[in-house]
Amino acid sequence: MKRIAVLGAGLMGHGIAQVFLAAGHPVALQDPDPDTLASAPERIRSIFNLLELDAAGLDGLELTGEPEGAVGDADLVIEAAPEKLELKRRIFADLVSMTGDRTILASNTSGLPIGEIARELGDAGRVIGTHFWNPPHLVPLVEVIQGDRTDPAIVEPVIDLLRSVGKTAVHVKKDVPGFIGNRLQHALKREAIALVENGICDAETADLVVKEGFGMRLAVMGPLENSDLVGLNLTLDIHRTLLADLDRSTGPQKLLTDKVAAGELGMNAGKGFREWTPEEAAEARRRFNEHLVKQARARLKD
Ligand SMILES: NC(=O)c1ccc[n+]([C@@H]2O[C@H](COP(=O)([O-])OP(=O)(O)OC[C@H]3O[C@@H](n4cnc5c(N)ncnc54)[C@H](O)[C@@H]3O)[C@@H](O)[C@H]2O)c1
Repeated sequence: MKRIAVLGAGLMGHGIAQVFLAAGHPVALQDPDPDTLASAPERIRSIFNLLELDAAGLDGLELTGEPEGAVGDADLVIEAAPEKLELKRRIFADLVSMTGDRTILASNTSGLPIGEIARELGDAGRVIGTHFWNPPHLVPLVEVIQGDRTDPAIVEPVIDLLRSVGKTAVHVKKDVPGFIGNRLQHALKREAIALVENGICDAETADLVVKEGFGMRLAVMGPLENSDLVGLNLTLDIHRTLLADLDRSTGPQKLLTDKVAAGELGMNAGKGFREWTPEEAAEARRRFNEHLVKQARARLKD
């Protein structure tokens, strides 16, 4: 079993730790905040319970406030500290000096380029991105990002390790903003905002079209598989007429910036793209969590 160190025991870090513990790997979990660290075992136990798993894996959990205590003998370190470039640079500079050549150093950054995090390091060959999606214990995808200076030889072992613990690990071959998933997701959001902004439909309708239309098939058939299904000639015909009409904003759209400026930030504010009563927001969150838990339990049973 590989020894894993997870730096940061917050929202992502405790879920990432659970993924490796459930597969039998010893995990050293570090966080400078004593309260966060102290609550981590119970938060991790509640994931085992949620997924109806035996929590024996928790015996492999070690807690520490200092990174030295966590990373010295680790095979893989996953940094899940706050999304601040300077902080991550400092953490990785320390990691390089605290670990041996064979320890792989991964960042769970959602958007910072891996090359930027590793920019000032002499030894950037063992630095890689492992972008777990939230919640990491329920969503299977992990994007493995090869930075400009990442040693290509470490990519496959990281992907193999993630697959062995049940994740769907994919190789992002270039360090582009948004990796793969967020580029696809935000291309869709840009067009959805444009549809509302241009009075073609309201926000509820845009969401309904996705959920009750092509969203029904997205979990089992991706967009390119779907093009293969219907025939590329059909996709070509549609693109000839449609692409020129799609939104091509190169910055945030006015509808979004206006709403943020007005404090219409979404469910917590009672209004975002649409209005939310506290009951509607609670019901949407319940529906979302229930769906993810159901999918995750079904995958574990397979
Ligand atoms: N929240 C998401 O949906 C999501 C999804 C994918 C990736 N990410 C990324 O994962 C990382 C962590 O995000 P999060 O949502 O878990 O944040 P979080 O704020 O919940 O947790 C971060 C933890 O890091 C700790 N920390 C602070 N300084 C530290 C240091 N020097 N060393 C180690 N730990 C330190 C904090 O005490 C906190 O407990 C970020 O880079 C974020 O962008 C977040």
